[in-house]
Formats: sequence, structure tokens, C-alpha cells
Amino acid sequence: MSYDPSKAVGFQSPDKPVSWNKRDLLLYAIGVGAKKDEFPLIYELDKSFGPLPTYPVVLTFKGDDQDTNVFTERVKSAPLPGLPPSDPNRTVHGSQSIEILKDLPLVSGEGWKLKTRCTGISENKSGLVIMQEQLLVDGQGTAYAKLYSSSFGLGLKATGKPFNKFIAGPPTAKPIPKDRKPDYVIKEQTTEEQAVVYRLSGDYNSLHIDPSIGKAAGFGGVILHGLSTYGFAARAIIKAVGGGEAKSLKLFGVRFTSPVKPGDELETKVWEVGPGPNGTTEVTFTTTNVATGKASLGGGVAYVLKSEKSKL
Ligand SMILES: *[C@@H]1O[C@H](CO)[C@@H](O)[C@H](O)[C@H]1NC(C)=O
Ligand SMILES: *[C@@H]1O[C@H](CO)[C@@H](O)[C@H](O)[C@H]1NC(C)=O
Ligand SMILES: *[C@@H]1O[C@H](CO)[C@@H](O)[C@H](O)[C@H]1NC(C)=O
Repeated sequence: MSYDPSKAVGFQSPDKPVSWNKRDLLLYAIGVGAKKDEFPLIYELDKSFGPLPTYPVVLTFKGDDQDTNVFTERVKSAPLPGLPPSDPNRTVHGSQSIEILKDLPLVSGEGWKLKTRCTGISENKSGLVIMQEQLLVDGQGTAYAKLYSSSFGLGLKATGKPFNKFIAGPPTAKPIPKDRKPDYVIKEQTTEEQAVVYRLSGDYNSLHIDPSIGKAAGFGGVILHGLSTYGFAARAIIKAVGGGEAKSLKLFGVRFTSPVKPGDELETKVWEVGPGPNGTTEVTFTTTNVATGKASLGGGVAYVLKSEKSKL
């Protein structure tokens, strides 16, 4: 079998129907650590109730389900043209970003979908990176968010030769300023049940609930979903820079760099690095797992509409 990764780049996958309701938004918020006093995220009767802008990242696995799904079925998909089939057990989420184009409604209603295309491949000795772009659109085709995610297939080989082609990708982070301390430091504890709650948003991978799988995979037990840590960091930045206003977050991207176990403490350090597009402030950030001392999220970039409160 001969493979040709250049055939995958630009390939448009079939559209995926998606849906959510208010209960899904509430469940997601507590899956990413929202606390009992964060009413705009956890209480549907609060006058400021609204989605965390990062919510659409769950839709790839959730789709339009109302019930649980079987993870091993969900990740079975035909390989992209030109690429070998990938082993879900040897695939890791490398990076994720979301750009908010329009505020999300509280309930999707009918006809929403994710439009997915492959925007890049790179192959080296250790495996293959696949970059996907997803556009979240409503029934009329209006786009609400643009997402990029990359996955790394460990040991996956197309041609065995180095290959690198990207036609689109997310904004990348500016370097962390070396000459000054972070402008904001936010510490937060995850709970022992964090992954048990987060999975209810649609990622039912047993790795996040059955310790024997994490042990076999060399993690020593259950690990937290990378996208849960992602949501913790988004909440931290909204709180610190956006004055607690969820809609202040316009772009949020990271690389996943090391695992977190449910119960570990997270520390997010944030530097303002200049003006971003459309009146936002650009920040660079990193989220460290206090338990291991390692960065769990690296290359963090966000565009935030800065509140008057945090300007003081
Ligand atoms: C992946 O791991 C699960 C749990 O250990 C196992 O049941 C499944 O067969 C594995 N899948 C593949 C494709 O090896
Ligand atoms: C291959 O690419 C991955 C992902 O970009 C990177 O982490 C890794 O260091 C690279 N390996 C080699 C041998 O260049
Ligand atoms: C700025 O806002 C305009 C209008 O909403 C939008 O089309 C554009 O994509 C935004 N630019 C960036 C870089 O986010």
C-alpha cells in the first residue's frame, strides 16, 4: 500500500450534525471547574447566564447526541485520503484553538453542523501530525466559531520520509516575556471527580475513568481530559483579564504538553503582550500542573476584550 499525504491536505470530511441545550452548557461549565458562585456559567436563571465560549470544542465527540456514546465507535472513521488508518490508542491531542466569530445561542436548535477539512500534515521519524479546521455553522450556514486541532499519531507512517504542508492554521502565541513576571497568576484545584464530570460533555474515552487503562498506557492511572484543563485555563483568563465576562474571550489556543490527574492543582500564568485584533488585548499564557511542576498547556494564546475593572 502506498500513501501520499499531499492528498489529505485540503480534504473536506462529511459535515457532522451537532446540537446542544442549556443543560449541556451547565454540565460543561462544571466539567471545566466552574464553582458554586460562578452564577453566569452554572445557573440558567442568572441574568448573565451564557455559554463559556470554548464550549464548541466538545462537539466533535458529542455530535448531536443527548445520551452517552461509545467512544471506540465514535473514533472509528475512514482514514483521510492518502493516509494510513490511525490507531486511536496511539493518537494524542496535540493542540486546540477556537476563534469566536459570533456569540453562541443558549440552545442550538436544528441544523447546526461542524464543517471539517484537513489543513495540514507533517510527518517525521516519531509519527504524523494531522491539523483539522472546523467551522461551526447554524442551519443557514452562518459561522459562529472556527476551530483548529492537531492530533499526533505516535509511530504512524505514511511514506516514512519527512513531509510538511500546511494551508491554514491558528494564530500562534507570542513568546513569554523573559524580563518580567506574569501580569496574572491564577491557581485552581481540580477535583478527584473532575474527569467523571467532564466526560458527560461527550468524550467517554475509558482512559479517563478506568484506572487500569491509564496504567497500561503508562500514565499510572486515570488522567484528566486535556480539554478539561483547557476549559480551566479559559475560565482563569476570563476571570483575570476579561473581568469575569465570558463573552470577552475571542480566541483561545494551546498546545497540550503533559497530563493532569484528577485532583491535581493547576497554575495559569498570564502575560499581556500587546493589542490583539478588533480592540482585544493579546495574552500569552502557560498552565502548569503544580503536582508535577510541568507545563500541561504550553504556547497559550488568547485575545480578550479587557474589562475596565482589570485595567485598574
Ligand atoms: C485500545 O485500548 C482498548 C483498552 O485497552 C482496547 O480495548 C482496544 O482493543 C484498543 N484498540 C486498538 C485498536 O488496539
Ligand atoms: C516530530 O514531530 C512532533 C510533533 O510536531 C514533535 O513533537 C517531535 O519532536 C518530532 N520528532 C522528531 C524526531 O523530529
Ligand atoms: C474582527 O471582526 C470582524 C467583524 O466581526 C471579523 O470579520 C474579523 O474576522 C475579526 N478579525 C479577527 C482577526 O478576529
